[in-house]
Parts: sequence; C-alpha cells; structure tokens
Amino acid sequence: AKRLAILLSGRGSNMVALVQAVQNGVLQGLAEVAVVFSNKPDAPGLETAAGLGCPTASLSSQGRKRAEYDAEVVEILNHYQPDYVVLAGYMRILSPTFIRAFAGRILNIHPADTHQHQGLHAYEWAFENQLPETKITVHLVDEGLDTGPILAQHPVDLRGADTLGEVERRGLAVEHRLYANTLARLMQGELSIPTSETAAVSPPTPEPLVP
Ligand code: GAR
Repeated sequence: AKRLAILLSGRGSNMVALVQAVQNGVLQGLAEVAVVFSNKPDAPGLETAAGLGCPTASLSSQGRKRAEYDAEVVEILNHYQPDYVVLAGYMRILSPTFIRAFAGRILNIHPADTHQHQGLHAYEWAFENQLPETKITVHLVDEGLDTGPILAQHPVDLRGADTLGEVERRGLAVEHRLYANTLARLMQGELSIPTSETAAVSPPTPEPLVP
C-alpha cells in the first residue's frame, strides 16, 4: 500500500473523506495514512484525524520564513516515508525546496477549474459570478500557484444554489468523492501523469464518480 502524508490547515473534511476511503472505501488495500500534518497546531482537522486513529504531527508556520519552514516540514514528513503528499486544504504556497523533495508526488484539490481560478476563495468566486457550474480539480503540484498538470476534474451543478453555503455544500460533496477516486485510479495505474503541454491541449474528460 502507498503511504499518504495528508496536509491540512483547517477543518479537514477532505482528510476525513480520504481516511474513510482508506479504512473502508475505494482506497482500502491501496493506501495507508502515514501521517496527517498541519502547519497550524490547533487546526480542528488534526484532532479529528487523531480520533480516526491516524498518526498526527504539526509545526507552526506562524512568523516563519517559507524556505526554512518548508525544509523542516520536509524533514518531519520524511520521517514517515510518504509515497504521496496529499494537500487537503493546506493553505500555504510551497517553496521550491518542498516541491523538489517530493517532485511529481504532491497532489492538491482545488475547488474550481485551475485554468479559470487560482488561489483562495474559489467558492465565493463561483457564487459571486453566479456560475451555473463549477469544476473541482485534482492536480499535481508544481512550483506555480495552481498550475500543475490536471489529474481529474468533475463538474458541480450550481443552478439554484442561492447561498454560498449551498455552493460549498454541493462542491464539497464532489471534492470528497473525487479526491479518493483520483488517488485510487492513480495507484491502480489508470492515470497517466500528464505533462503541462498535453494537459493544456486536452483536459481529461470527467469520469463517473463511484461513491
Ligand atoms: C476545500 O474546499 C479545498 O478544496 C480548499 O479548501 C477547503 C478545505 O476544506 N482548498 C483550497 O482552496 C486550496 N486553494 P477541508 O479542510 O474541509 O478539507
């Protein structure tokens, strides 16, 4: 089984979905949770992870220089020997040091089409622009902000979603299934790792989501 280091900064609902998929879902037998790490020692998601039986670790990023901080995080994570680093609401830009330490093995979930929206507040963006649909994106992390090759995308129907809360509720339901499904497909060799060029020419078609 591939070892996952799951990184979060807050609530951790994607982490919960991944842990459940490992414990008795699409990732059972394929993956195990090596560690759940946070840059915020008081992130609610850390306590939730511990409650689910996961090893946890944290190191406060407050007031730290990015490169120095990331070098320490790499050391901590290496201790758990992860095959993949899975960002799940990890609200930090990663330094080149970090990216190179786990090159090609860092995944992120973004609550929008990364070709249309990068960075924070993607659900607010979709809500304020009254988009009829948004797309959840799982991508490999490179040195840009939400620029890495796309592994999977899935649409979220936003018609009739008249509050931000409703937009988020619908989006998160898709996030939780798409992330675990995409990891499962990656580990079963069903996903070819796209180069940035092929990803730009032909974005992957959405796959049906197995709950
Ligand atoms: C999720 O919606 C995730 O896609 C988003 O933060 C939320 C974390 O929720 N990530 C980003 O916006 C990254 N730019 P969670 O802690 O409940 O998983």
